[in-house]
Amino acid sequence: MKRTILITGGAGFIGSHVVRLFVGKYPDCRIVCLDKLTYAGNPANLADVAQAPNFVFVKADICDLERMRAVFREYDVEGVIHLAAESHVDRSIRDPFTFARTNVLGTLSLLQAASEHWAGKTEGKRFHHISTDEVYGALQADGTFFTEATRYDPHSPYSASKASSDHFVRAFHDTYGLPTVVSNCSNNYGPYQFPEKLIPLFINNIRLGRPLPVYGRGENVRDWLYVEDHARAIDAIFHRGRIGETYNIGGCNEWRNIDLVRVLVRTADRLLGNPEGHSEHLITFVADRAGHDLRYAIDARKLREELGWEPSLQFEEGIEKTVRWYLDNRKWTDDVTSGEYANYYEQMYGRR
Ligand code: NAD
Ligand code: DAU
Repeated sequence: MKRTILITGGAGFIGSHVVRLFVGKYPDCRIVCLDKLTYAGNPANLADVAQAPNFVFVKADICDLERMRAVFREYDVEGVIHLAAESHVDRSIRDPFTFARTNVLGTLSLLQAASEHWAGKTEGKRFHHISTDEVYGALQADGTFFTEATRYDPHSPYSASKASSDHFVRAFHDTYGLPTVVSNCSNNYGPYQFPEKLIPLFINNIRLGRPLPVYGRGENVRDWLYVEDHARAIDAIFHRGRIGETYNIGGCNEWRNIDLVRVLVRTADRLLGNPEGHSEHLITFVADRAGHDLRYAIDARKLREELGWEPSLQFEEGIEKTVRWYLDNRKWTDDVTSGEYANYYEQMYGRR
């Protein structure tokens, strides 16, 4: 193998798409997928690459500094793509400490392990930290966008923990010369997203005839990007982005929640063979999320102009693929929501 790339959080939603892309596209690189397998991490997301000769799975907690040091030594890691995180805003409101631990202290132990292992030999090394547009706070409905220069202004415990981790990454670059790059992406959608997030939760609820809990009046706006387009952006930034830089990634695809929910209802009803409007009555307005950011929208010009990246999929096509995937893979959703998947990894990979 030419070199080893460590991908953390690779059993989660976005991480599994990044691992799949890298395992297939770089057969002469060893791809070490490291994941604690929290409720959000599922080895079934990686079933199609688990047997690939360049794929290695390590079950570990990024907060365990000794373990991170050992992983860097054992595999002589040369590149890191760091996605492992607690990622759900609603959970962060109920349990902020878990978010501070994983997202801040976990990132710090990875940075420490990388800077020790690469000390004095940073040529060809790279630490790519995957972050979110939520660190920039909330936009008004006024047509403005987040750029890489927008001031950080996080509002939820989740975004505060991600903002903090971004600052640590930059601090390691500025203080210790760690070759880092940061990317901040908008909302992702697609297969393998844990069904606590809006799109997979609502598709599942439509299938089961359950209420669709729209927070507030559904006026909040998100900028949606198909997950495989995010994975391609990560590939471009990891390989060709400039050290010490930040790149925003977004779909240029803003939707008010209520309009998006209506598209989901129409698409799911059609694919389920229901008459038009069949599931509209499931839409239920509920109490708003505390500190709910009104609008996110990314200006991805820097990424486009420097690295030539563009989203490849039209939203209509991406949503159709996504709804179809969740309806065709009901067992995946049933398994992750029943909690029975917790022992999968041992059955699939054995103890490591
Ligand atoms: P996810 O919750 O689906 O996956 C997170 C993964 O990290 C899981 O596999 C989980 O087991 C693992 N993990 C959690 N704590 C860990 C720990 N202590 N040690 C090792 N592994 C641990 O999240 P996602 O939606 O795929 O997001 C991945 C990354 O991308 C996160 O850093 C998130 O902040 C960022 N991001 C997500 C979005 C989005 O729309 N989902 C957008 C922008 C950025
Ligand atoms: O912007 C990037 C971020 O997008 C990522 O960093 C996060 O990890 C990811 O979870 C996502 O955060 P959001 O809070 O935007 O995603 P979520 O799917 O939870 O909610 C999308 C919108 O839908 C948001 O305005 C809240 C609303 N919502 C969500 C749920 C789960 C509802 O109205 N009802 C719901 O039940």
